[in-house]
Amino acid sequence: MTAFTADDHRFMAQSLRLAERGAWTTRPNPMVGCVLVADGEVVGEGFHVQKGGPHAEVVALQAAGDRARGATAYVTLEPCAHTGSTGPCADALIEAGVARVVAAMRDPFPQVDGAGFDRLRAAGVVVESGLMEAQARALNRGFLSRVERGRPWLRVKLACSLDGRTAMANGDSKWISGEASRADVMRWRARAGALLTGSGTVLADDPHLTVRLAGDAPFAVPLRVVLDPGLATISRGNVRDGAAPTLYVHAHDTKVPQGFDAPRMAAPRGSDGQLDLRVVLDALGAGGINDIQVEAGATLSGAFLRAGLVDELLLYIAPLLLGERGRPLFDGLGVDTMAQRLHLETIDTRRVGDDTRLLLRPKPTA
Ligand SMILES: NC(=O)c1ccc[n+]([C@@H]2O[C@H](COP(=O)([O-])OP(=O)(O)OC[C@H]3O[C@@H](n4cnc5c(N)ncnc54)[C@H](OP(=O)(O)O)[C@@H]3O)[C@@H](O)[C@H]2O)c1
Repeated sequence: MTAFTADDHRFMAQSLRLAERGAWTTRPNPMVGCVLVADGEVVGEGFHVQKGGPHAEVVALQAAGDRARGATAYVTLEPCAHTGSTGPCADALIEAGVARVVAAMRDPFPQVDGAGFDRLRAAGVVVESGLMEAQARALNRGFLSRVERGRPWLRVKLACSLDGRTAMANGDSKWISGEASRADVMRWRARAGALLTGSGTVLADDPHLTVRLAGDAPFAVPLRVVLDPGLATISRGNVRDGAAPTLYVHAHDTKVPQGFDAPRMAAPRGSDGQLDLRVVLDALGAGGINDIQVEAGATLSGAFLRAGLVDELLLYIAPLLLGERGRPLFDGLGVDTMAQRLHLETIDTRRVGDDTRLLLRPKPTA
């Protein structure tokens, strides 16, 4: 086990902060940061901005120039060993004469997966891995979910009243959460590779499902995904406004209306007769989606939870009471006794405007 110093931690923390700056742009690539240090001084730093652009190591090496010789590179992910859109970073570090590479974690991506470390070690570079690994894994949980589990990380976002209502019985839900919460949702949307909703929400709200930010920060436009088994919503046009690509997912036995030419995918039905959500997620993962944000009603949100596919729940609780006739957070959970209750872990709690925002993750059942 390597004993890392306080300075090692400090420089890796700096590298992680740099990596995070790519949160809205790098997908489907992981976020990566790199800090080059010589004689205790930062001589170069960089982060990966977007697919096809230079990797973090290359940006940092360019900034450092000759000062990279003999330096230590702090990287949040194992340097790549393959030629993708750019050349192997392991080779660039070797050529620049970097003496030591400290990585937060190995890259499980099949074309790397230890090959970057091997290459560096073979060239005489000292390689140490595992510094602040938990933080590095948290940063790229979507990328890691896709590579390691074969499906995207799935976040369900819901706004509810204090009495847990997500819409009125007549479908009206505008607006439960306040303006600050809705602006906050936009920043979470910017982190997602896909924004997914159900036919019920499209029929009730005709949402745009786009990212609308106050500033002009760049972001990769998320794919809009509509789970619409019977293609019943195609007259509702806002998701096809051209502002972002949209994928309709319908049941394999649905007859596609003539002239309907939007991108679509047929999915099988599960044992409950509804779309098989796991198949849908696997397909989106295979298509390069790291993170999905579900913004649907109680039916689909409940179906994802019931299927054990929810990784986190982003809940905005507004100081309102909507009464007992409103729609719940989740339909069909099948919880009738205390013994069947579902446990969630609270990851983060904060005030957003007048609302309370909770980030929760289901606790694995024993
Ligand atoms: N408060 C909030 O954060 C929030 C967010 C979004 C929506 N809403 C509100 O929620 C209401 C709509 O909710 P909703 O429950 O009616 O609709 P929904 O959950 O958005 O969509 C439900 C539909 O999804 C389709 N679906 C596809 N695969 C499914 C599966 N495996 N299991 C279940 N359904 C599947 C079904 O379509 P088919 O019936 O066509 O087969 C189902 O009826 C609206 O009033 C909206 O305003 C609130």
